[in-house]
Amino acid sequence: MIQTILLKNRPKGNPKSSDFEFVKDDKTPTVNEGELLLETIYVSVDPYLRGRMSDAKSYMPPFELNKPMKSGIIAKVKSSKNDNFKEGDYVMGMLDWKTLQISSGKELMKVDAEKAPLSAYLGILGMTGLTAYLGLTQIGKPQKGETLIVSGAAGAVGSVVGQIAKNLGLRVIGVAGTDEKVELLKSKFGFDEGINYNTTTDMKAAIAKAAPNGIDIYFDNVGGPISDAVLFNINKFSRTINCGAISVYNETELPKSISVQPFLVKNSALMQGFIVSNYSEKFPEAMKQLGEWLAAEKLTYTETVVEGFENIPQAFMDLFEGKNTGKMVVKI
Ligand SMILES: NC(=O)c1ccc[n+]([C@@H]2O[C@H](COP(=O)([O-])OP(=O)(O)OC[C@H]3O[C@@H](n4cnc5c(N)ncnc54)[C@H](OP(=O)(O)O)[C@@H]3O)[C@@H](O)[C@H]2O)c1
Repeated sequence: MIQTILLKNRPKGNPKSSDFEFVKDDKTPTVNEGELLLETIYVSVDPYLRGRMSDAKSYMPPFELNKPMKSGIIAKVKSSKNDNFKEGDYVMGMLDWKTLQISSGKELMKVDAEKAPLSAYLGILGMTGLTAYLGLTQIGKPQKGETLIVSGAAGAVGSVVGQIAKNLGLRVIGVAGTDEKVELLKSKFGFDEGINYNTTTDMKAAIAKAAPNGIDIYFDNVGGPISDAVLFNINKFSRTINCGAISVYNETELPKSISVQPFLVKNSALMQGFIVSNYSEKFPEAMKQLGEWLAAEKLTYTETVVEGFENIPQAFMDLFEGKNTGKMVVKI
């Protein structure tokens, strides 16, 4: 039997269980010449999927209604009539939220289960690691001795950004949603300071206290009020990497925000949107560096693993409640 999760409704505000539909099919798919049958092992759930559930113009086309949801998936080849893959291979690709599916093999990448845990290819050795490394180096242009602040700091991308910045000799401050996460930033990931935005009443002052020399680089994963507070603390020639804005993804009206222009003008500061796929020519260089740091134990990671195909939508929705630490993946 094959189970599939379809996009049933375009969410209004926070995504809900009723925006997804589970369907079952008893037929075993036929594998034609050139094709392979894939069994899903791990599914990545990511905040950006929320954007594809709506039909607003973006950098990726919206998901179609009543069609399967898709994301980064690690799958095992169950049978193959494609010369490039054999039964038992593990692959990664942008695949449907299905327990079993047919693929042409195009745009699938083989992954080595001996070299790293399979789920790592959806996180530190996948989009997460690439986003953290390339966003920070290409736009942030970090210099030893500078101060970096990262929001969503205990999440998948944020926890890697902070560690890379430490490896490059920066002072690192992380902003996260619970005291446990803030503690982890310092104890596991080596951050210098952490701020719990849910219990801090004056973020502007808390950032000033944690960064007495001001902020040179802001790696922004969340947007909204946290990012407004950072603006009051930026230095001359500071760089802000707009990687994500999870705090506003579910807003139904344009959020009120302070005007960024005076802050940028006064500080000759840069603020630039970042999309990892624009930097694909730099992926090999980034993977090499991330691999070296991992091998040298100068980089570590954590995952939140949810079990069961039926829990994919809930795991996705939980990202907006901060229920994950590190990369959120679903094990099938
Ligand atoms: N531009 C790109 O190419 C690219 C690629 C990958 C990811 N991204 C973006 O990067 C960001 C992080 O992605 P990720 O995959 O690493 O997810 P993640 O950080 O692992 O998970 C999302 C986290 O966001 C925090 N959050 C949720 N609602 C929030 C709010 N209202 N205010 C502040 N924080 C909130 C939660 O942590 P707390 O407990 O701390 O609230 C949650 O754990 C997202 O915005 C995503 O869209 C961009």
